[in-house]
Amino acid sequence: MHVDVVFTPDEAGSAPTGIVIDVIRATSTICQALAAGYERVLCAAEVEEARALREALGEGVLGGERAAVRIPGFDLGNSPREYLEPVGGTLILSTTNGTRAVVSAASRCERVLIASLLNLSAVVEDARGHGDDVLVVCAGVQGTPNLDDTFVAGRIAQLLGWERTDAAEASARLVTTWSGAEEAFRASRSGRNLLENAPELEPDLPFCARESVLDVVPRLVAMRDRAAEISLR
Ligand code: MLT
Repeated sequence: MHVDVVFTPDEAGSAPTGIVIDVIRATSTICQALAAGYERVLCAAEVEEARALREALGEGVLGGERAAVRIPGFDLGNSPREYLEPVGGTLILSTTNGTRAVVSAASRCERVLIASLLNLSAVVEDARGHGDDVLVVCAGVQGTPNLDDTFVAGRIAQLLGWERTDAAEASARLVTTWSGAEEAFRASRSGRNLLENAPELEPDLPFCARESVLDVVPRLVAMRDRAAEISLR
């Protein structure tokens, strides 16, 4: 079995199993929300799409960010710490980079799993169980690679222990250059963006840096127009 990594959704690559990462913070939020009891997360790329979805459904908690902070008129932001208790069944989430990565993986993989550090072991074991090659799709930051998602990709490559492409090998080797995830996150552009735009959200970094504390494997179950529906089914 092989594991490959693309550092942004724009890079070429495909495999039967896709694992999507936007660790700071979209996929951490999705994992936390579903673990807390939300039934599904609808990921919408655009703010207006998220609003239209709630209008059409007649229900749903609106969550997400632009420039790291809560979108005006939305119920919640994109801090996973806001999702410790469900306040509805459906979360409609719109974030800057995360949704694009999910949609990109859906177009080239038979199945799409959602990873963060929070659910690392669970997602790796699920991928291993399928017995197919894996493509890790990093969200990156607006079309460029980032250290935080690359760190998680490297941990996945390490834990799978399969044959690695050069990209997967580079990710795994990068992991060993830091003392741990939090140090990598603080060094990353995503981490620095968060601290610059919303310093009050600094506790999100150590929160997202905890490894294998949630036993959930969110997966893409359907596309609803342009929104990706993710649940634990
Ligand atoms: C993203 O999708 O780029 C992230 O959710 C950004 C953030 O959490 O601020």
